[in-house]
Amino acid sequence: MGESDRKRAAGRVVVVAGLKGGCGKTTLALGLLGALAEAGLALALGDVDPLGAAVAGARRGPAGAVRRALPLRGKAALRAWLEELAALRAAADLVLIDLPPADPLPLAAAALVGDLVLLPVAPTALELAAARATIGWLERARAGRRDGLPRIFAVPSRIAALPSAVRAPLAAIEGLGLPLAPPLRLRDGHDRAYRAGLPVSLAAPGSPEHRELAVIGRVVAETVGLAARPAEPAAMPSLARGAGPVRAAYLDEPPGALGPLDLGPYRRRLRDRLFPILLGRS
Ligand SMILES: Nc1ncnc2c1ncn2[C@@H]1O[C@H](COP(=O)(O)OP(=O)(O)O)[C@@H](O)[C@H]1O
Ligand SMILES: [Mg+2]
Repeated sequence: MGESDRKRAAGRVVVVAGLKGGCGKTTLALGLLGALAEAGLALALGDVDPLGAAVAGARRGPAGAVRRALPLRGKAALRAWLEELAALRAAADLVLIDLPPADPLPLAAAALVGDLVLLPVAPTALELAAARATIGWLERARAGRRDGLPRIFAVPSRIAALPSAVRAPLAAIEGLGLPLAPPLRLRDGHDRAYRAGLPVSLAAPGSPEHRELAVIGRVVAETVGLAARPAEPAAMPSLARGAGPVRAAYLDEPPGALGPLDLGPYRRRLRDRLFPILLGRS
């Protein structure tokens, strides 16, 4: 097995989880699929929800990504499910797993093999309670591993407030005690992309939704140790405090030819809270 084969055998697993239906898992998984494809990664999407919404939402692309139904029907099917996932991993840099709601079995199974779990959560009491239950299951699964993985990030989801009023919602989500990924705002482009059968990056390139997803995609890729495509300057630049223009470039320039990012009030929070955690410098 050559060097590149060995690398391929270690395709990362990023799991989009949340026991509550409607918290934004499939929307985030599809958006990230597009953003990460754009970053030049070889991708597979494993749709564990028997409803098949993720596969349907990516039915027309991205062309290079493998898109597969991967339902887990009971404990007896676990071994076969893990083997299918291993096959997806062997052929991809990164496998994105979209989980179904309500069922802790696929949640725990995915946590046993995942490198990173993304937990979309809106700042409501109902969703925060569901997120806490989800975190409980994830932590139990993680306790069964020796490597301390998966990392778990909350992804603020469907943030509806105006930029000047996002502090309270984000603070509520921070109360979960997880590092926060950059937020995904409530925007209609996700639904339009779904109807088109394409991720937002292809259905609405350059849109605010696309820019948000590009930032989350970069954070995800860096967290699991994958660099963005070589065409980008310095791949993932250092985010160290005081890195000046390099850090600014990371915040201001999403992949490709998109315009400046409007991170507004998130910027300080990202710099002060998220990045130090990602870099292990907190
Ligand atoms: N950021 C967002 N902006 C607008 N609508 C969203 C957003 N996130 C999710 N939705 C909508 O909310 C509903 C539930 O989202 P979905 O991704 O299917 O959640 P889940 O997969 O967790 O059940 C869908 O109709 C979806 O289009
Ligand atoms: Mg879903």
